Amino acid sequence: MPEKKEFKRLPTDVKPENYTLRLQPDLDKFTFKGQETIDVKVLSSTTSITLNSEEIEIQSACYKAADAGDQNLKAEVKFEPENASVVLSFPSALQPGSGQLCIDFTGELNDKMKGFYRSKYSSPSGEEKYGAVTQFEATDARRAFPCWDEPAVKATFDVTLVVPKNRVALSNMPVKSENDLPEDSTWKVVTYERTPIMSTYLLAFVVGEYDYVEDKDSDGVLVRVYTPVGKKEQGQFALEVAVKTLPFYNKYFQIAYPLPKIDLIAIADFAAGAMENWGLVTYRETALLIDPKNSSSKSKQWVALVVGHELAHQWFGNLVTMEWWTHLWLNEGFASWIEYLCVDYCFPEFDIWTQFVNSDLGRALEMDALHNSHAIEIPVGHPDEVDEIFDAISYSKGASVIRMLHDYVGDESFKKGMNQYLTKFKYKNAVTEDLWESLGKASGKPVLDVMTTWTKQMGYPVVKVSEKQEGSNRVLTLTQEKFCADGVQEKEGSFSWMVPVSISTASDPKKAAVVTLLDKTSMDVTVPNVSPDQWVKVNCESVGVYRVQYSSETLDRFIPAIKNKTLPPRDRLGLQNDLFALARAGMISTVDVLKVVGAFVNEDDYTVWSDLTGNLGQISILLQNTDGFEDFKTFSKKLYKPVAQSLGWDAKESEGPLAAMLRELALTRLGKYGDEETVTEARKRFENHVSGKVPLPADLKGPVYLTVMVNGDETTFNQMMKLYDEADMQEEKVRISRCIGSIKSDELKKKVLDFAMSDKVRSQDTVFVIGGVTGTVQGRELCWQFVQDKWTELHERYKGGFLLSRLVEVSTDNFVTEARAKEVEKFFETHSAPAAERKIQQSVENIRLNAKWMERESTSVLKFLRSQ
Ligand code: BES
Ligand code: ZN
Repeated sequence: MPEKKEFKRLPTDVKPENYTLRLQPDLDKFTFKGQETIDVKVLSSTTSITLNSEEIEIQSACYKAADAGDQNLKAEVKFEPENASVVLSFPSALQPGSGQLCIDFTGELNDKMKGFYRSKYSSPSGEEKYGAVTQFEATDARRAFPCWDEPAVKATFDVTLVVPKNRVALSNMPVKSENDLPEDSTWKVVTYERTPIMSTYLLAFVVGEYDYVEDKDSDGVLVRVYTPVGKKEQGQFALEVAVKTLPFYNKYFQIAYPLPKIDLIAIADFAAGAMENWGLVTYRETALLIDPKNSSSKSKQWVALVVGHELAHQWFGNLVTMEWWTHLWLNEGFASWIEYLCVDYCFPEFDIWTQFVNSDLGRALEMDALHNSHAIEIPVGHPDEVDEIFDAISYSKGASVIRMLHDYVGDESFKKGMNQYLTKFKYKNAVTEDLWESLGKASGKPVLDVMTTWTKQMGYPVVKVSEKQEGSNRVLTLTQEKFCADGVQEKEGSFSWMVPVSISTASDPKKAAVVTLLDKTSMDVTVPNVSPDQWVKVNCESVGVYRVQYSSETLDRFIPAIKNKTLPPRDRLGLQNDLFALARAGMISTVDVLKVVGAFVNEDDYTVWSDLTGNLGQISILLQNTDGFEDFKTFSKKLYKPVAQSLGWDAKESEGPLAAMLRELALTRLGKYGDEETVTEARKRFENHVSGKVPLPADLKGPVYLTVMVNGDETTFNQMMKLYDEADMQEEKVRISRCIGSIKSDELKKKVLDFAMSDKVRSQDTVFVIGGVTGTVQGRELCWQFVQDKWTELHERYKGGFLLSRLVEVSTDNFVTEARAKEVEKFFETHSAPAAERKIQQSVENIRLNAKWMERESTSVLKFLRSQ
């Protein structure tokens, strides 16, 4: 473990109340000038003021007490770069009372996608241009102006931007006034209405060239979606989602959206997916723009989820904010849960809650089984530690425990408690317990006691089930213990959860027959009216955050119900996911799990297939390192063929998005594993697409591109690169650049790696293009070597941040030998990776898990596959 970095929060003897902030970016020199007047309250006498400031130069700083006439105290300025702060020292003590702090400063519009930064775009005529934009969360407002950059130090903001006249300039609030700059009439001075009291990390400015579409929601809020110039129709879909979503949340929370307007804007260079700045939400282009013809169903679903997520933050996060980053999960876990509620409301055809079980619960259970996981609530101080917790625990486990809680207290109580919480803490800050208290009051249930076991303790339980039939009753004995990915219990500390358990039976598969709270190590539960041959499932609809282990006899009863699909999709999904995890942990045999996979012959649910595919993918990673990978391919081709055949290549008129997504999934697998028929058809369709004869529909592009790449040569590669160059939409560029790495030839793979670093690929996408080469053993080797060689450059490019964590993940996670684990460990002993420390340990742990799994079971798995 690297040493914990020294960290102190800012002193609280002086507190800001309002910032009057004026910023003037120079889009040619990539610098900016700033002036601020901060109305402060001095709470106790002091000779210095400490605030955050990073990579900013201060020209002058002075303090004027409200009752001191014209007398200004000039400050001596001393930076403390290791704390990202600046100390302003005054010749005499400031007395308690009101005053104003005036600071003149300058800074760089950097290219690191954080703070106040530059973003490159091309104008419709193809000209290269720059805009200026902000990304402040978590700790980068201090890169744009000296401020108290902590979420609990809320203030109001009067923002003024001075920009060239022909640019769009936006901030959180509507424009209050717009005038020519007196000294140069090619510039304008735009002043915005005062913001409500808010945290610094939610402030935002955007300067650039944009078009927009607009509408009003049913409550009269003005909603605009800003797009690149000439592409405003690509904003229409997100606009519709936003206009529907705002009133939905208004109704759900029983609190109106607090600002007069909201803008959603697509930013060319953007590190995260999207950012919930109050009233000015910024997005990656791929998370906001939809082309009616050329965007896939998956993209639409993604845009809807992201819009739903960021708009939820306008209440949960912006109106009520976490007191400190330790409670980040409140923001992200909650938004990651309610985005599904919103999409389910707007687009029921996505059956999005089933997808939750795969995308969020599944991800959470996987990561949280590691010894190197962490509790949802975790003390953090230094910015690198803060960056590090924007991870699957805060997001996906956070969302999963909220889903479990929502089910436990019921929708009515949940809504009531949410409203109480938001009303009580609006324009203020809250901690996790505050939410539990509101929800406990509203529901009359021991929410605090139950939830504390989930948020203050890492990991989750596996509930072991043994059963006996007593007359018409089935008596289950449930026992909980911590689930560990390697099957080995930690010695230190004993873990125990209060687990809301629901149980369903074959007579009414969708409904919980028994609901109870497992609040001790072991207990008996009687399920009435069950005949001896009927299945009884623990964790109905996979709502609980735990795994279930049945005896093999109990398990057998599920087989027919999987085959005839009377076991509901979320239960089928959860069941097989638990089995794979238990196998990886060495608690059951992988061959037994593969036998159960055989029961999915009639499976037709996209999400079940998707989860199963992910799990088989893990096995394929192991087998790629053996001489039996061909057998795995044969097995897989047989598995996916029926579903691909039943869907065909062409969309049926009446089919929904899930059919399109399932077709994409099945064809992709068949293409990847070299199914001849699929490869031939994909090649034919690709040629027709390239020649312009029959353009591929959006939902077929993914599988066709991947298939021709995996089975392609240099000609295909060049054709694909040409498509990349010609592509206008970011969605298409991303689709292509993520799949070109699957080309067989090592030489071409190396080309892809260089291409990833070239200026043809935006920094925000580099990591994923690099990740694209890791589909084969050889590719993983090349990628890891490349990442090591280029580490300094990559590190400099991202200056820490979560993209670097993702890079560690894609380049190391899928190794399968102890030697590799050691090699990765060793490399990072001498190469710093701020904000990726935990990720490195997790990757190393994953490699060791793979290695053990390989050793233990690859022979028996191969034998099984060969016998099929
Ligand atoms: N608050 C985050 C943005 C963010 C992420 C800031 C990481 C700083 C570091 C935003 O609400 C968010 O969660 N965005 C997600 C997309 C969302 C749909 C899960 C993202 O950027 O991945
Ligand atoms: Zn979020």
